[in-house]
Amino acid sequence: MKNNDLAVVILAAGKGTRLKSSLAKVLHRAGGRTLVEQVIRACAPLGAKRTIVVVGHQSEVVMATVEPLGATTVLQQPQHGTGHAMQVVRRALGNSKFAIVLPGDAPLVRPETLKALLATHRSANAAATVLTAVVADPRGYGRILRKSDTAISAIVEESQLSGDQAEINEINSAIYCFTLEKLWPALAQVKPNNKHRELYLTDAVAVLASKGEVVLAQVAADPCEVLGCNTRADLAEVDRIFRDWKRLALMDSGVTIQLPETVLIDPDVMAGEDTVIEPGVQLLGKTKIGARCTIRAGSVLSGAILADDVVVEAHSLIADSRLDDGVIVGPFARLRGGNHLKARVRVGNFVELKKSVLGEGTKAMHLTYLGDAKIGSKTNIGAGTITCNYDGFHKHPTTIGNKVFIGSDSALVAPVRVGNGAFIAAGSTITENVPADGLGIARGRQTNKIGWASKKRRELASSPSDKKITPKKSRRNSKKQKR
Ligand code: UD1
Ligand code: MG
Repeated sequence: MKNNDLAVVILAAGKGTRLKSSLAKVLHRAGGRTLVEQVIRACAPLGAKRTIVVVGHQSEVVMATVEPLGATTVLQQPQHGTGHAMQVVRRALGNSKFAIVLPGDAPLVRPETLKALLATHRSANAAATVLTAVVADPRGYGRILRKSDTAISAIVEESQLSGDQAEINEINSAIYCFTLEKLWPALAQVKPNNKHRELYLTDAVAVLASKGEVVLAQVAADPCEVLGCNTRADLAEVDRIFRDWKRLALMDSGVTIQLPETVLIDPDVMAGEDTVIEPGVQLLGKTKIGARCTIRAGSVLSGAILADDVVVEAHSLIADSRLDDGVIVGPFARLRGGNHLKARVRVGNFVELKKSVLGEGTKAMHLTYLGDAKIGSKTNIGAGTITCNYDGFHKHPTTIGNKVFIGSDSALVAPVRVGNGAFIAAGSTITENVPADGLGIARGRQTNKIGWASKKRRELASSPSDKKITPKKSRRNSKKQKR
C-alpha cells in the first residue's frame, strides 16, 4: 500500500517526567523494542510518503534509534506541547495532504486500526479524525466530548475536567488523522490556556469543531491499543500485552507453551511446530527454534539458532550459538557466543562453551570448559576437562580430532592439537601436541607404599600421648580455636 499524500508524524520530544528516569520516555522498552520503534513499525504498512519523528529530550539518542528505521527527525527545542510540536514539524511535511499523528508513547496500536482511521477520514472528507477508546478507567487521559454518534466537539485534558466530565469513559488516544490545510489555521488559534502553559494539539480539535469542520471519532475495537506509557506501571502493562500477543501468535503456529504467562519471548523469535516451551523460559533477540524442540524450565536463549529435535534441559543459558538436529544440552549448561554444535552433540551439566565447534555426536557431559576449541566428531570429553585457552595475554586455539578420548580432569594448554583417535590419560596437563592414535599422559607417576596405613595405625595405638590430650595442651588448643 502506498499513500503519497500522507505523512506520519510521531511526537517523541517529551521527557516523560512521570517515569522518573534519566532515559527519554520513547526509548523505554515494551514488548522487546523501544516504544518509538514499536510505533514506527505499526505505521510502516500505511505506506506514507514520509515518517517524521519530533525529537527533543535526548534528541541524539532518539535520532540514532529512529533514523535507521527510515524515519526523518525534526528537533523541537524547547517543548511547548503537542500543538507546538506540530507547528515545528510543519515545514518538513512538504506537500503532504494528510498526516497521521501519533504519540511516541502509545505503542500497541495496530496497523489495521491506522488504516481504518485513514479510510474513515478520507471517505468523510473530515478535517480531523480522532482515534478514541472506551475504557473502564479513563484516568490520565483526555476525555472526548461528543456532538453526535460520529462527531466530537472537544477533547478535555485530565487537568481541565469540570463538573461530571471525569465520568466520561471515552478517551483520546492522541492518534489522529488531520487534513493539514485545515489544521494549520486552527492551530494558530490555540492558546496555552493550561497550567503547563503548553499548546495542546487537542485544543486544535475543538477549534476545528467550533468552526463547523467535520471532526470524527473512530472508536478502537480493542481499547488496549491506545494505552499510553506515562508511568512504570503503564510500561509493565503494555509490555505484558505485547508478550501475550507474541505467545499467542506462536501458539497459533503450533508451539506449546506451558504456563504461558511465565514465558518471555522477544518479537523476532521464531519456533517450529510441536516445539514445547516449559515455564520460566526466556527466548530473546533473534532466537530461532526448529520443529519438535523442547526448551525446559528456566532456560534463557538469546540469539540461539536451533535446528529440529533439539532439547535444552532446565536452567541452561545459550547465547549466539548454533545447535544442529538432535543436540541435547544441559541441565545447567552455559553456551556463550560463537558455538556450533553439530548434529546429536551432547553437552551436559555445568559445561561452559565459548567460540567452540563440536563435531557430530561428540559428548562433553560434565563440568567442562571448552573455549576456542575445534573438536571433531564422536569425541568424548571427560568430566572436568579444561581448555586453557588464555595465557594471560592472548587467546589460543585447541584442536581435537575425531573419535578422541579425553580422560577426566585433563587440562589442554593451548595452542595444542590432539590427533584423530588419540587418548589423553585422566588428570593430564597436556602442553604438547598428541599424534593421531597416540596416548598423551602428563601427570605425576603414582607410587604405592605397601602396608603404610596399617603401620601408621599401629604407631598411633602404641603412643600414649596421642591417645589422650593433656589438659594443658587442650587449654592451648581451645584458645587457638577461639582466636
Ligand atoms: C496526551 C493527550 C491526551 C491523550 C493521551 C493519550 C495532549 C495534550 N494530550 O496526553 O489527550 O489522552 O496523550 O496517551 O496531547 N510531546 C512532544 N512535544 C511536546 C510534548 C509532548 O513531542 O512538547 C510528545 C511526548 O514525547 C509524547 C507525546 O507527545 O510521546 C504525548 O505527550 P504526553 O506528555 O505523553 O501526553 P499525555 O499526557 O499522555
Ligand atoms: Mg502520554
